[in-house]
Amino acid sequence: MTRFDPGGPLHGELRPPPDKSVTHRAALIGAMADGPTRVTGYLDSEDTRATLRAVAAVGAGVREGEPDENGGLFVEIEGVGLRGARPAAIDVANAGTLLRIMPGWLAGQSEGEWTFDGDESIRQRPVDRIADPLRLMGAEVDCRDGRLPPLRVRGSKLHGIAFEIPVASAQVKSCLLLAGLLADGETAIHEPVSTRDHTERMLAAMGASLRREGDVLTISPAERLEAGDVPVPGDFSSAAFLIAGALLLPGSEVDLREVGINRNRIGLLSILSRMGVEMGGTHESGRALTVHEIREPGPEPVATLQVRSAPLRAAEVTAADVPAAIDELPLLALLACFADGETVLSGAEELRAKESDRIAGVVEGLSGLGAEIEARPDGFAVRGTGELRGGTLDARGDHRLAMLGAIAGLASKEGVEVDGFEAVAVSYPRFERDLRGLLA
Ligand code: S3P
Repeated sequence: MTRFDPGGPLHGELRPPPDKSVTHRAALIGAMADGPTRVTGYLDSEDTRATLRAVAAVGAGVREGEPDENGGLFVEIEGVGLRGARPAAIDVANAGTLLRIMPGWLAGQSEGEWTFDGDESIRQRPVDRIADPLRLMGAEVDCRDGRLPPLRVRGSKLHGIAFEIPVASAQVKSCLLLAGLLADGETAIHEPVSTRDHTERMLAAMGASLRREGDVLTISPAERLEAGDVPVPGDFSSAAFLIAGALLLPGSEVDLREVGINRNRIGLLSILSRMGVEMGGTHESGRALTVHEIREPGPEPVATLQVRSAPLRAAEVTAADVPAAIDELPLLALLACFADGETVLSGAEELRAKESDRIAGVVEGLSGLGAEIEARPDGFAVRGTGELRGGTLDARGDHRLAMLGAIAGLASKEGVEVDGFEAVAVSYPRFERDLRGLLA
């Protein structure tokens, strides 16, 4: 149990931890390239450590340097080339991104067999969403009950397909893009609602041939990928907890530096703008949220976000908002407790298939703290009361629920005990230290 007493304001500046999605991809795509890929600011977390072990298991060289002042690592990955992966049993731990993306690469090897398994939570995460389209490409893939890990992949000859992704998922898209590099002919992926495009950006920077026409993404087979330098931006999804804290705790003013602002990740900002948070302008404009110092040090844009506390009003959040805010939707429930009116989220049934059932976790967790929230099959409805009593919140082994519990505690009247707080190590091991540093 870790306790978070009522507190605030948050004050100061920090660089949130490196981006988890970009880090996973840097290790995987680096392992597929010819030669050394130098990753600066590799996220040192449980999920992304599992990916380093996975690429080492298939034969890639992994050399770790010193951590930088934000805890990001310098990591050099010596790739095995597109077709050089050796057979292995891979333990993905809690990492759904590793589980769903890496099989795309291995399915196209000329021979060999790989298995993927992980913790209790990973064994409940559907993999038919990658197994089905990979089979259409000619892959040999088996999984438990046709849909769950362990997952087994045998290397075989792949051919390109035209495929419409039924659930908006960057993991599925990324898996098929990697398989497409090894297939005969082009692979065309129709993505009705766009999702994070970190894989496309990194592959293009490493010499792959990809094109987007409307919502269809087409990749051509490749002989090789060129190794290169990958700077990892700060993680917007981790920063989101600090953004929520700063908005909710009166008198707060926080500068979050070098945060990745890929437009497929920052959907929370447009939701916040509908919730009445004034945005834009310059640093000095006094608005609640400003985005400045925008730079593109690599394929991903970064910026400094300045956040001040602000009153909130309820908003309606629907399916079109979901992909670009998918990992921030639990936080929406917390923010909605303090917003004027009723906030309704719909079209987000995917939340039930994350590290935990995040609809159940957030609704039961926040109800237990005194919130007026009810679950819907595809979301939740929250009546804002402007306050939260406090109590105990069960993180259910889910890093994002653990961090939500901490912010809820600071904003509550009586404080919150977070049961299972250690889950934060999956994506943001320094979360408690960073948060308490902004309180000091
Ligand atoms: C991720 C994509 C999202 C997200 C997950 C990371 C990625 O999942 O929820 O935390 O790195 O591609 P889906 O693509 O399955 O929606």
